[in-house]
Amino acid sequence: LMEFSVLPLHNNPEYLQSCCDLINSEWKRSDTARLRSLEASCDHLPVSLILLKHKQLIGHLKLSPIPSISDGCFVESVVITKNERGKGYGKLLMKHAEEYSRNYLNLNVVYLSTKGQEEFYRKLGYNECLPVSIYGGCSSTVKLGQTDKVGNWNNKK
Ligand code: ACO
Repeated sequence: LMEFSVLPLHNNPEYLQSCCDLINSEWKRSDTARLRSLEASCDHLPVSLILLKHKQLIGHLKLSPIPSISDGCFVESVVITKNERGKGYGKLLMKHAEEYSRNYLNLNVVYLSTKGQEEFYRKLGYNECLPVSIYGGCSSTVKLGQTDKVGNWNNKK
């Protein structure tokens, strides 16, 4: 029962450095820049969720606001530590993030962008959509249809 937990990083700041190390092992950036971005995690958006296995940090993802879409969020920096991949933990973390978005943040749509992990997200039920702007000032319309989980497979952020 206590083996796995998914928790907001800002409520567990003792994991800040290991979280920074995990993300930087995949996408190299300065620790200062990375820590600053992780320290923005809050009770609304953005929020960084961490996956713990026996109190060891093994995964991270970040939910960011989309200025033009108030009932949605953008999932980014999804990463599972290298020696724990392919064991279902990425899926577990994403499922928790979807529940967190719906039940805690009261959001209806989860967006993401990937180039390379299309199959992983397709298996989680994501469908391809038009690119959304995650920056302010954009008023492009996105048609959602019946789905509430959308990804953009070739969109460079
Ligand atoms: N290609 C095809 N299928 C895949 C892939 C892939 N690259 N990755 C996972 N899957 C499948 C698995 O086979 C599994 O299928 P099943 O349910 O039929 O058994 C299912 O997806 C779930 O796989 P998990 O074991 O939960 O995936 P994992 O724990 O390895 O996490 C992740 C996936 C997060 C992509 C991990 O491989 C990782 O950290 N990769 C490096 C960083 C990265 O690319 N992150 C995504 C960036 S995109 C973004 O952040 C929005």
